[in-house]
Amino acid sequence: MCGIVGYVGSDTKAKDVVMNGLRRLEYRGYDSAGITLYNARFRIFDTYKDIGRVEHLAQISKLAMPSTIGMGHTRWATHGAVTKNNAHPHSSQSGRFIAVHNGVIENSDELKKQYLSDIYFSSDTDTEVIIQMIEKLSIQMSVENAISTTLKLLEGSYALLIIDTHNPETIYAGKNKSPLVLGSSKDGHIIASDIMALSDYCDSFVALKDETFTVVHDNRAHFFDLNHQLIEPEYLKIDNDFYQAEKGEFEHYMLKEIYEQPSVIRRIISRYLLDEKDEIDEHIAQQIELSNRLYILAAGTSMHAGYIGKFLFEKYAHKPAEVHIASEFAYGQPWISDKPFYIFISQSGETADLRACLTKIRKTDAKVLTITNVKTSTLAREADFSVDLLAGPEIAVASTKAYVAQIAILAILADKIGAGLDIKASLNRVALVMDKLLKEQKISEIVKEKLVKRNCFYIGRECDYYTSLEAALKLKEISYIQAEGFAAGELKHGTIALIEKNTPVIALIGNRELSAHTRSNLKEVIARGAQPIVIAMRNASLSSDDIIVEDVHEALTSMIMVVPTQLIAYYAALDRDLDIDKPRNLAKSVTVE
Ligand code: M6R
Repeated sequence: MCGIVGYVGSDTKAKDVVMNGLRRLEYRGYDSAGITLYNARFRIFDTYKDIGRVEHLAQISKLAMPSTIGMGHTRWATHGAVTKNNAHPHSSQSGRFIAVHNGVIENSDELKKQYLSDIYFSSDTDTEVIIQMIEKLSIQMSVENAISTTLKLLEGSYALLIIDTHNPETIYAGKNKSPLVLGSSKDGHIIASDIMALSDYCDSFVALKDETFTVVHDNRAHFFDLNHQLIEPEYLKIDNDFYQAEKGEFEHYMLKEIYEQPSVIRRIISRYLLDEKDEIDEHIAQQIELSNRLYILAAGTSMHAGYIGKFLFEKYAHKPAEVHIASEFAYGQPWISDKPFYIFISQSGETADLRACLTKIRKTDAKVLTITNVKTSTLAREADFSVDLLAGPEIAVASTKAYVAQIAILAILADKIGAGLDIKASLNRVALVMDKLLKEQKISEIVKEKLVKRNCFYIGRECDYYTSLEAALKLKEISYIQAEGFAAGELKHGTIALIEKNTPVIALIGNRELSAHTRSNLKEVIARGAQPIVIAMRNASLSSDDIIVEDVHEALTSMIMVVPTQLIAYYAALDRDLDIDKPRNLAKSVTVE
């Protein structure tokens, strides 16, 4: 993953722009960070980099001179360990070229062997291969040609910013598969991995296309394909409000985002379900009707929302649907019906595994819908249709409000093709019940008392099983407790061997018809010493249950059942004093395969 940002202009604000941009891009990786800034007095670039977070970089670079050009990087390691040497920016052997890079160059070892055996490398990164190639080629050709020739040789993904120290008022930027946007303001240009890094300074942006590069100089940006032919950019307006996100009174973004869920549902209702202005393209429902099987592709939390989508489409709208892990679908050979319709679900709209699926699907005539929280994202732009989740920026790495919004959108789509969910009233009810639950919740006490082990199981049936998968993922990713979600009836077929005295088993009982079965499965584990925690809907509850939530439409119980599990994960991580918004080894937007 990684986040990159660069500024070139007439104002001496490069350091502020780059540091602010890095703070906003830190969700993309936070192993190490670096910045390079032009020092006009000595005509050199001052580079600062180290392992650690962007705030540490701010400390070590605090004496840097004001500058009109600079670029920075926040890293999520792919090639090479988390070390200062592997942190970006990287320089070519002579120091002439400097680069920051997001992506993975799959043929870097081959390029190194074939062209660069005489070059000294100071890091283990694939990025250094790019910059050494450019330096080598620039001996025989212009810098622009050296860049385009190098980019043509690269296999893999890159969003790349390059500075030639012999020509220090220019930034070159190349893009393939990894996201890269260029924003223009009156005093200069900012190029970054995400609009978030531009939104405080720019009103419009260009999303660079794959296999293109841009040269930014003298307050102008020129765009080229890799054959060095000029291409016409398309400037789009930035929705600046979308990118403003503060924690406010909350200690963490995750908690804030959990508490925002009722208002997200109300926003979805007001934009998509008021008769006079349904903003969902009517062709989407037509395409779903025309298809004979839906293929829902996603990763992680978004995939869990996909399972709920399958449940809604099949049980209520009688439309066959399959859910696939994006990274498996991209290179596997699943049987595809003769009239498929693809639904991609991605909070970020940048997930590389889904982009690989898109490449595969584009070889057929099938149509693709992307459901995403970032309407300007790559997957939103490249799909045939897109629906905006309207969840507002989700900053915490652990996804919460986007997940609930994904289910709401899937329910609306299922309803459009006849699921009969009385969707407006049903979603309103979910928002109301969620408000109440969030006001009265006492989950931190339950967590302190009962979640005392290093492992934990969630169990449930039908869509409670899907919720248990999501609940377990949330607990794992932020509290580092080993957690698994199971179909309640499946535990006894092997995994029950792991139950010991006090192993927490959290039963999700949102479905009244199946509650007796789930409760029997719970008894089986209690008999083996498990510590049970029960979360139940009122109409399926017993007075002894730990958390009882008020009833909602039976098709939408998963939207409400997930909330206590999000809070369990949050308080478990809080108790362990962990970095809740930026858990270890993770990044918010996974732009590598
Ligand atoms: O941006 P996407 O929804 O495509 O991301 C998919 C997963 O990487 C994401 O849901 C991940 O599982 C989250 N960290 C979960 O909280």
